[in-house]
Amino acid sequence: MIDLARLRQAFPDRHIIYFDSIDSTQRIAAASEPGTIVVADRQLAGQGRHGHTWHSERGSGIYCSFVLPPSPVLTLALGIAAVEAIAQTTGIACDLRWPNDLMLDNRKAAGILVQLVNGMAISGIGINVNQTEFPEDLGHLAISLRQHAGRAFAREDILLALFPAIDSLIAEDTETILRLFTHASSYVAGRRVTVDQPGGPITGTTAGLDPAGFLIVRQDDGTDTLILAGGVRAAGS
Ligand code: BTN
Repeated sequence: MIDLARLRQAFPDRHIIYFDSIDSTQRIAAASEPGTIVVADRQLAGQGRHGHTWHSERGSGIYCSFVLPPSPVLTLALGIAAVEAIAQTTGIACDLRWPNDLMLDNRKAAGILVQLVNGMAISGIGINVNQTEFPEDLGHLAISLRQHAGRAFAREDILLALFPAIDSLIAEDTETILRLFTHASSYVAGRRVTVDQPGGPITGTTAGLDPAGFLIVRQDDGTDTLILAGGVRAAGS
């Protein structure tokens, strides 16, 4: 169970809604006022990107959603905020796989889902904190901070760092977010990747972000392709 009193004491002005168990914090956030934060101890129907489910076991992960104003590079800003909060509280340095997967040991430690609902950006963050195992189909794809570090972490500590990190990152301009993301992610430049595209997968070397935050992949024939959605993976994996 999450120590809600600690969160409310640290952020007395924030509207924080807590559920012991809920289908998805995204659904609650979508019906909530701007500025609301929804936190759950477990989700019964956690939503991932591209229609996937998000494994949301009780007591071990962070499952939270924020009602934020939309902005062009919001997903990138949230990824940086999550990386900063985790580093600050656990000392663990996650990599960022464009656009917003937090990676450890080539597995996913956290994910971000932004959905536009009634003009607001319903922004969900899931962090694998203390899981000791994952379902078989996720075993080689997912990792928790605990599995990486060999010790458990207090989820409240990470949340206490995450809220102000988000506040501060969403206040930055696009240029700053692109610079911070490029600095924090090993995927943005010089990385061999394969990306699923409508016409089939392409392989190339990443060549930076364009001014809107899209990823540029340079194929070996010199063609640049702008990647508009996710589906980026290390080549050969
Ligand atoms: C992804 O596929 O990488 C995005 C995962 C987002 C999961 C979080 S957990 C809190 C919020 N509620 C949901 O149902 N999904 C997001």
